[in-house]
Amino acid sequence: MFDAIEKLKEYIGYQSVSADSAYKEGMGQTRDFVAKMLGDLGLSVEIVNTPKHPIVMARRTGDPSWPHVVIYGHYDVQPVDPIELWETKPFEATIKGDRIYGRGAADNKGPQMAHIAAVAELLEECPDLPLRITFLIEGEEEVGSPSLLPLLEERKEELSEADFVLLSDTLSPSEDQIAVTVGLRGIVDMEVELVGPKSDLHSGLHGGAVYNPLQAMAEICASLHTPDNRVNVPGFYDDVTEVEEWERDELKELGADMDAYAASVGVDALHPIAGYTPFEAIRYMPTLEFNGLWGGYTGEGSKTIVPAKASVKITCRLVGNMKPDVVGKQVADAILSRVPKGLKAKVKMGHKGVPYLVVPPDRPNTPAGQSEVLANAYRATEAAVTDVFGKKPLFLREGGSIPIIADVKRVTGLDSVMIGLFLPEDNLHAPNESMSLEVLKKGIQVSKRILKSVAGV
Ligand code: BES
Ligand code: MN
Repeated sequence: MFDAIEKLKEYIGYQSVSADSAYKEGMGQTRDFVAKMLGDLGLSVEIVNTPKHPIVMARRTGDPSWPHVVIYGHYDVQPVDPIELWETKPFEATIKGDRIYGRGAADNKGPQMAHIAAVAELLEECPDLPLRITFLIEGEEEVGSPSLLPLLEERKEELSEADFVLLSDTLSPSEDQIAVTVGLRGIVDMEVELVGPKSDLHSGLHGGAVYNPLQAMAEICASLHTPDNRVNVPGFYDDVTEVEEWERDELKELGADMDAYAASVGVDALHPIAGYTPFEAIRYMPTLEFNGLWGGYTGEGSKTIVPAKASVKITCRLVGNMKPDVVGKQVADAILSRVPKGLKAKVKMGHKGVPYLVVPPDRPNTPAGQSEVLANAYRATEAAVTDVFGKKPLFLREGGSIPIIADVKRVTGLDSVMIGLFLPEDNLHAPNESMSLEVLKKGIQVSKRILKSVAGV
């Protein structure tokens, strides 16, 4: 018997921080754990080496007439800092009440386990299940999936003949209201350095004579939004597209207790983009965010200098037809055009992701040629969530990004069925990450029913 909770505890125990090379050994152990777990289910496992962290592929082959589902997940997790805020050890799974705590519990080891456990149980119950399955579990999602696109291109033929991708790496509003995610925002990442004097200068000797890079950086950053919280970059909104009426209706059904939302993130007022509710802004609008801003002296006490440099990390979330390269250039050009004389700017582009949208069956804008297997998978998902969680799911866009989902669509033509199995209280990317065990158990049931229905049994 496959024990999903025991397996998840073990999985969380492996230290798989993809961003930090100090975790190289943990990444290797995690990959081996995933490979063995899938191998033990009777799947044939392939470890695809990449320049950084290998991809685990595991296949259940079968008759070419059987439907074929690709199950996606990532075995890497975010760094654990600030470690002092964790109440339990991040890499030692701890169960408290109905929750399992640890880095990756929610993003993505727990939700992914729902599908692995579903396959394990199904294959035990029906060894002859007429379904082909390919697991695609990568180790670089949290660093922008640099190796997955080349793999997709290399395995294009094999993957293109699958029917759809199934995954759980997105949010649901609550255990009582599960979401099927039908949109992800794209992303473009960049870092800008402003360089002024040849070294830090004594501010008493030089202050007032040279342009302070931190001052210039603050002025440039402040210029990138208008007071109504729109992005002040020429052309930025050109490729935003209209949102369908049925999508707005789904979001309305979610309701919007903005005081509760503000309280949940610990602020006493919200600052949504003018003309949009906060929940609309998160899902329907692009943003430009400052992720980090630094320069000069930040140690204890004071130091009277004009610093030599200042830096900022920026990410933009994209929607509609926005293209990461185009937006990256628009933002870089806007910044460069605002650099005052006496300073030089260097812009370094980072990872990118294209926005993704999928339309479920039976909507006014469902593509005419949508595959029957995909349409059935969506209908089965709706029925399974309704039965298992006791309420019909909402089909919602999400504000987060999983860049590979749009790449999969572009390279292989496959759409994705994304069932949200983490919740707002799960502390993704933050200290004390956790997942509800009830959601995990119900997620396994949902996944089993979808897979059975796709297999036609
Ligand atoms: N699981 C998240 C994506 C996500 C978060 C989807 C919230 C929906 C709601 C994923 O692991 C993630 O964090 N992705 C990064 C992508 C980036 C590193 C390219 C993100 O969204 O910041
Ligand atoms: Mn994730």
